[in-house]
Amino acid sequence: MRLLLFSIIHLCLLLQLQTLIVSSQIIVNGSVPVGRSLIASESQQFSSSWLSPSGHFAFGFRKIQPNDGFTLSIWFDKIPDKTIVWHAQVNTTTGLVPDGSKVTLTAGRGLVLTHPRGQQLWRSLLPPGTVSRGRITDDGNFALLGEDSETELWSSFANPTDTLLPTQSIEVGGNLSSHRTETNFTKGRFRLRLGDDGDLQLLVLNSKSLAETDEYFSYYASDTKAPLSPGIRLVFNQSGYMYVLQSNDSRSYIKGNEVPVSSGDYYHRAVLHFDGLFAQYYHPKGQGNSGWTLAWSEPENICDRSAADVLNIACGFNSICNLGNNKRPKCQCPERFSLVDSSDEYGDCKPDFKMETCGPEDNNTTNESADVNLYEFIRLDRTNFPKTDYARYANYDEELCKASCLSDCFCAAAIFGSRRDQVCWKKKFPLSFGQRSSNGDSDTFIKVLKRPTKVPITEKKGKNRDWLIIGCSVLLGTSAFGNFIFVALYRKKKKSMKKKPNQSREIGAATATANAMELNLRVFTHKELVAATGDFMEELGRGTFGIVYKGFLKVTRDSEVTVAVKKLDSVAQDNEKEFKNEVKVIGQTHHKNLVRLIGFCNEGQSRLIVYEYLPHGTLADYLFRRPRPSWEDRRRIAVGIARGILYLHEECSEQIIHCDIKPHNILLDENYCPRISDFGLAKLLMMNQTHTLTNIRGTKGYVAAEWFRNSPITSKVDVYSYGVMLLETVCCKKAVDFEDNVILIDWAYDCFRQGRLDDLIEDDLEAIDDIETVEKYVKIAIWCIQEEPGMRPKMRIVTQMLEGVAQVHDPPNPSPYSSTFTCDDQSLSSGPMSLV
Ligand SMILES: *[C@@H]1O[C@H](CO)[C@@H](O)[C@H](O)[C@H]1NC(C)=O
Ligand SMILES: *[C@@H]1O[C@H](CO)[C@@H](O)[C@H](O)[C@H]1NC(C)=O
Ligand SMILES: *[C@@H]1O[C@H](CO)[C@@H](O)[C@H](O)[C@H]1NC(C)=O
Ligand SMILES: *[C@@H]1O[C@H](CO)[C@@H](O)[C@H](O)[C@H]1NC(C)=O
Ligand SMILES: *[C@@H]1O[C@H](CO)[C@@H](O)[C@H](O)[C@H]1NC(C)=O
Ligand SMILES: *[C@@H]1O[C@H](CO)[C@@H](O)[C@H](O)[C@H]1NC(C)=O
Ligand SMILES: *[C@@H]1O[C@H](CO)[C@@H](O)[C@H](O)[C@H]1NC(C)=O
Ligand SMILES: *[C@@H]1O[C@H](CO)[C@@H](O)[C@H](O)[C@H]1NC(C)=O
Ligand SMILES: *[C@@H]1O[C@H](CO)[C@@H](O)[C@H](O)[C@H]1NC(C)=O
Repeated sequence: MRLLLFSIIHLCLLLQLQTLIVSSQIIVNGSVPVGRSLIASESQQFSSSWLSPSGHFAFGFRKIQPNDGFTLSIWFDKIPDKTIVWHAQVNTTTGLVPDGSKVTLTAGRGLVLTHPRGQQLWRSLLPPGTVSRGRITDDGNFALLGEDSETELWSSFANPTDTLLPTQSIEVGGNLSSHRTETNFTKGRFRLRLGDDGDLQLLVLNSKSLAETDEYFSYYASDTKAPLSPGIRLVFNQSGYMYVLQSNDSRSYIKGNEVPVSSGDYYHRAVLHFDGLFAQYYHPKGQGNSGWTLAWSEPENICDRSAADVLNIACGFNSICNLGNNKRPKCQCPERFSLVDSSDEYGDCKPDFKMETCGPEDNNTTNESADVNLYEFIRLDRTNFPKTDYARYANYDEELCKASCLSDCFCAAAIFGSRRDQVCWKKKFPLSFGQRSSNGDSDTFIKVLKRPTKVPITEKKGKNRDWLIIGCSVLLGTSAFGNFIFVALYRKKKKSMKKKPNQSREIGAATATANAMELNLRVFTHKELVAATGDFMEELGRGTFGIVYKGFLKVTRDSEVTVAVKKLDSVAQDNEKEFKNEVKVIGQTHHKNLVRLIGFCNEGQSRLIVYEYLPHGTLADYLFRRPRPSWEDRRRIAVGIARGILYLHEECSEQIIHCDIKPHNILLDENYCPRISDFGLAKLLMMNQTHTLTNIRGTKGYVAAEWFRNSPITSKVDVYSYGVMLLETVCCKKAVDFEDNVILIDWAYDCFRQGRLDDLIEDDLEAIDDIETVEKYVKIAIWCIQEEPGMRPKMRIVTQMLEGVAQVHDPPNPSPYSSTFTCDDQSLSSGPMSLV
């Protein structure tokens, strides 16, 4: 009995297998007999397709990653990426069908697509008639033919999705619809329609629900409307020309009447992308990896377009559009904003903070009398949000523009036309049509709530706060917090005055010894710095050499300066003299690309260094944020840092090797000029120590190979680290990206060797426009990261190459012996840059 059952099952399986094999037999000459079917399947064995006579196109199921479904489609079968040109528009959440779905060519109902459990998912809608066979042609059309084997009862060309192929046309009333996203095949927001009035238009849906009944807005029109000579058909002719044929036989070309390549040697296609771009591409017919080349696009710059001045086309509210070199838009939320729907990067961005509303609940967010504003600005370079301003001021400068917005509870952002006409605009929320471009002539300042502080606001002295801050910082800070520290300092000072009346001098003028006077440095007592930092309350950052705290020093009776106080960790006790010497060396440096030392404290165990405070944070924060800083700024920063290092190496009274050059140790001043910090400290902390591996103070990813060898440490270690940082500055990518498993120096060299520099800078248009400089910088960086220190140029040569004074030759492989350095962890082995 059991045996019988088993045999029956076996037989059934066999039969099923046979039908499958039979049903997916090869189609002769593109002709598909009635009764044939195809099944969507993971396994290669059963998945197959019907080919056009010369095999240019195929019809069948395609697996779509990552949605784990299949689409019944037609695609270019001879090119590597098998681009889809048509698909059956199924009513499922992704427009895809599950594994095991089946399509059958029937006589009565044409193509019928069924779920593995049998329900019908889709079918070709036919006029009455009987299908005799299907036919797939080398033009890419799949047609169902009537009994005369001539009449097309249904065809994919007449039921287009998002793509047009040469010889295909759209009649009056017909349309293309975009996908929802690259992998979500449901209908999206965009249409290309030849209207009843003969006008060809690109349309965007005025709705998030994507209800077809909602109104569409036009963002392109062919202007071939009735009553003159209305368009009667959109033609994509065999040679790859696209035009609206008008009733008087005139042709209105979509984009000029030139096609760059012949249709004999190239495939052509025009597609309405899910982001709204309508574009024509061509691809060589022979095998080859060159991919699709853009012939033209409409709109030319989609970031620039709005529909009816109301609708954002490419990106949502508060989002910033950046045009890729393929003319496709990229959307990004500004800092402190995030996507409303995290799965829709083209959607709206919402603030991560409570917005100012002018409502009564906001009555405590600003306090004019106390001069505390709870809001501040984030700056977006070369970014504009055109069209939604409610106020405009001519002849304002940037400060006035910002001040005006800050004191105006309606104002959500200020735009300042810095590179053009010095005009200031104020905007309300939501911000729309945001765009950033390399030749943008305005900067945007978005008003954001200051990050919450742990301490309530108490009081604030001195009105011109900005004026008082000498400069600059080691990391970030909030003024509310700083305020507290000031108060703490003030109180403590009062106390100490009571105890020791003779210490009542102002802190800034404190206890300067003759030695320090000569350096123009202040010598602080530990107590003074405890007071200045509110007992080391606000941490600005943790560096390699110790923790940095924010502090306030009183300079005169009613002015104070913000400072960064670095508490050095573990300095050996017996080298007081060396400490003084080193500080002296540091104190003697004066260069616009170095952070300035104000003073120090050297009392027994506690060694503290007081620097100027820089307001714009570290280069690391600046480089790796998105949108990335402008290429122009990055160039300027790269050159500035090189000059700073050159000064340390060659122009100081005594050579200073930094030993820990990295973006976290580069600070930005009020003009976004780079300033090197922490120089001179390496020597200070390694005095009387041999630099064994455990003593390495450098940072993973930036340290040169000689640290791990028994070879002397020279200024070339800084050249190495500079090279790594130069690549980071060019690419806005971290030296070691653990998420993507990318070692920048290896990748950069590979890209350079293979002539794929554009991969390094991705869609950074400004950099692409200046690709010669990009190449030059990458070459310089590769010279700097040579494993062999002797091969690395001196900083003087590096700056000369950067400035174009010295020629840059093609660099050799930076790590020719990299195999000897390979770690166990392959992904992190990187030639000279083994990781600590
Ligand atoms: C293929 O079809 C063409 C016309 O569509 C016809 O001329 C040709 O004879 C067919 N070849 C075969 C092998 O059926
Ligand atoms: C799609 O399916 C949903 C439910 O499955 C149904 O409510 C809706 O009417 C369908 N839409 C169309 C166009 O068939
Ligand atoms: C695909 O897009 C539709 C909207 O058109 C949405 O309802 C659906 O959830 C999306 N599916 C996935 C898997 O994202
Ligand atoms: C596009 O065509 C489809 C089917 O032909 C139709 O249902 C839809 O309303 C059209 N959309 C527009 C915007 O014309
Ligand atoms: C057809 O009409 C358009 C205006 O509608 C005109 O510009 C064009 O010259 C006409 N073409 C011919 C061949 O008359
Ligand atoms: C396509 O249109 C162009 C421009 O009107 C014309 O020169 C070309 O001959 C046409 N090609 C075909 C195959 O009709
Ligand atoms: C501001 O007012 C709200 C209620 O209106 C209150 O919850 C909040 O604590 C107040 N903030 C300050 C700083 O006073
Ligand atoms: C501030 O707003 C709160 C809540 O709306 C209200 O209770 C309070 O009286 C207001 N304070 C002032 C000074 O207007
Ligand atoms: C504003 O600050 C003053 C002190 O400068 C204080 O008396 C007042 O209560 C503050 N107002 C609010 C609403 O916090």
